[in-house]
Amino acid sequence: MWQDFPLFPESASSVSGRVDALLFFLLGLSAFFATLICAVIVVFSFKYRRRPDNLIATPIEGSLPLELTWMFIPFGLSMVIFVWGAKIYFAEANPPGDVTDVYVVAKQWMWKIQHPQGQREINDLHVPVGQAIRLTMTSEDVIHSFFVPAFRVKQDVLPNRYTRMWFRATKTGVYHLFCAEYCGTKHSGMIGRVFVMEPQEYERWLAGSTADEPLEETGRKLFESLRCDTCHKEAPDARGPVLRGLFGRQVALEGGASVVANEEYVRESILKPLAKVTKGFQPLMPTYEGQLGEEQILQIIAYLKTLKATPVGVGEPR
Ligand code: CUA
Repeated sequence: MWQDFPLFPESASSVSGRVDALLFFLLGLSAFFATLICAVIVVFSFKYRRRPDNLIATPIEGSLPLELTWMFIPFGLSMVIFVWGAKIYFAEANPPGDVTDVYVVAKQWMWKIQHPQGQREINDLHVPVGQAIRLTMTSEDVIHSFFVPAFRVKQDVLPNRYTRMWFRATKTGVYHLFCAEYCGTKHSGMIGRVFVMEPQEYERWLAGSTADEPLEETGRKLFESLRCDTCHKEAPDARGPVLRGLFGRQVALEGGASVVANEEYVRESILKPLAKVTKGFQPLMPTYEGQLGEEQILQIIAYLKTLKATPVGVGEPR
């Protein structure tokens, strides 16, 4: 019976043990002080109770050592909590170099997931054990929150922007995926499963699931079917900037500012092309708002990421 009534989620990611250690430290600290304070209240209420020879309380003038003690002990303890928590926060905020990107689009009330190899899932996420996974997430409607208790990671998923989260699962199994932000009447039903598999098993899953083509290939087809390549081409009279080697590069803009070409920038340029016009170009690009869904924008982004800069001299990016 108790297997169906878990009090504490499994610990199945590279950070979950660290999060638990801090949680238990906080619990222990709270329990210690709660017990101490209760005990002192009880003891003092007997010790200093009203007696015939002490009917009116005698005021005391205060004590500097006592004041300093209860300033510096809590200060030290809160700094310990702060530094400890900050270290875990940074570990959770900075993915390692070897991450695999997975894209998540949330909507009322489901999770839509796209793998780089092209597999698409709804409310399920398959990952290999031991591999760092970075989720790039956005929402089609309201704010959701991607929460996997067993990994001790949670990240809000917002419309009109990308949020990211990474984890490295350390134990195979099936884990709960919850939406942790109230998002409408079926919020509580916005649940899913994360399957953590042995690498070989994961390879089998990849091979067996119906992926028509890699994500970037779908993105390339979209790019061509929307005729993006009529303007974004490597020609002197091109009306749009060359996109080869764009990702991660600093882009100079009309008006003097510059911006790093990341997912946010590309998404904005597709939906609101006039917001940031590349230096040396006319504000000519039409918006693709309404024509492209969030999943398709992510496919185009995956494609643009594969366009590596050509060696200097050969079709040099302008
Ligand atoms: Cu989505 Cu709650």
